[in-house]
Amino acid sequence: MEIKNIFSQYVQKQSVFTDKRTLSSNFIPDKIQHRDEEIQLLSTIIAPVLKGFNSNNIFIYGTCGTGKTICAKYVLGQLVEILGTHGRDVRPIYINCKMKKVADTEYRLFAQLLKEMGELVPDTGLPTDVLYRKFFGNIDSKKQEIIIVLDEIDTLFKKIGDDFLYNLTRINTELKQSHIMIIGITNDVSFRDNLDTRVKSSLSEEEIIFKPYNASQLKDILTERSLTGFVYGSVGDSALSKCAALAAQEHGDARRALDLLRVAGETADRLGEPIVTEKHVDMAEYKIDTDRMVETVKSQPTQSQVVLYSIIKLHEKAVQQKQWSDKRMLTGDVFDSYGAICTNTGLKPLTQRRISDLIAELDMLGIITAKVISNGRYGRTREISLAINENAMQKISALLNERFGI
Ligand SMILES: Nc1ncnc2c1ncn2[C@@H]1O[C@H](COP(=O)(O)OP(=O)(O)O)[C@@H](O)[C@H]1O
Ligand SMILES: [Mg+2]
Repeated sequence: MEIKNIFSQYVQKQSVFTDKRTLSSNFIPDKIQHRDEEIQLLSTIIAPVLKGFNSNNIFIYGTCGTGKTICAKYVLGQLVEILGTHGRDVRPIYINCKMKKVADTEYRLFAQLLKEMGELVPDTGLPTDVLYRKFFGNIDSKKQEIIIVLDEIDTLFKKIGDDFLYNLTRINTELKQSHIMIIGITNDVSFRDNLDTRVKSSLSEEEIIFKPYNASQLKDILTERSLTGFVYGSVGDSALSKCAALAAQEHGDARRALDLLRVAGETADRLGEPIVTEKHVDMAEYKIDTDRMVETVKSQPTQSQVVLYSIIKLHEKAVQQKQWSDKRMLTGDVFDSYGAICTNTGLKPLTQRRISDLIAELDMLGIITAKVISNGRYGRTREISLAINENAMQKISALLNERFGI
């Protein structure tokens, strides 16, 4: 087919979407459902800044996709609107610590904070304490309240520890005119336990917990969001229920629910079908799982990839030789296959113990299942099989072949 035809067919084709942008995770909808209590609590804690009083620091936590980011942004957005009419000097600064370059060192964090306050500093080069003093000076130049939201704060903590938090929370004792309020947000529910006691108590003067959504709440959220994103009537009710049910199984993750719905819509579009049905949701689930697995594998360290590659090689060989039924893949087989790949690629092999650990990690990631079985008088070993779908396996196999194949 001529490319021109592909384009012209595309233009003529009806889409199930009206505004796909509204289904993306960055979009903040007008209505946030099932979070009234959390939003009210957050607003109540922040409100004193409007009268020039200091507010307590807040620590927000809950699993991924429970609406923490969207609620924090929503509340700050509302605050900024009110500020316009009250004329108070309150400055909310939102930083996503997961963004590389924005915050992977204390220097970068302060540089980013300064940038948000309108002061440009070089990306590297200045001593951190100079930067810190600039930051201090900028804040204390007038009477103001700075609200710093550190979203996904655990990622920053993992990179640079909690000194920066200690510094930030302690700054208040030195500031003459101004005050800093910190809102820390994390998906890592156990993050708080890792913090230094002093940091912990000052960061979590107030705590807000976001609980997972249940299936019916997720369905309400999806229904509302589908109104702005889809052509009216183009999403079947059962498709919405299915997205909600699948995401509810996965710790009530609204992001997962929205992704499923968006990809289901894209699938319907690609097939030229006018209504999104359960079938499209199933296809979306398959696609998202595949993509996610491929991404997970890509982010693994080399040795873990080699171990996985050796398992895939064994699997492919067994399939080729149609020996699947009597060919059990045991830990020992993986060692052998792994050893051969190391020899071929010139990689230094790890000890069996380390490989066993990596096998256990791959199991935890859901890429393989490794079941402990008793192996007669040889003691215990693990029976290993791949836990990924066929499509994911092909993609991952191709990827690893490129890296380690010969
Ligand atoms: N109550 C809600 N109403 C509408 N959309 C929501 C709601 N809760 C979450 N979402 C959407 O789900 C996705 C994940 O929410 P987010 O706030 O990023 O979760 P978290 O920060 O807790 O991981 C975002 O796209 C967000 O817009
Ligand atoms: Mg978030």
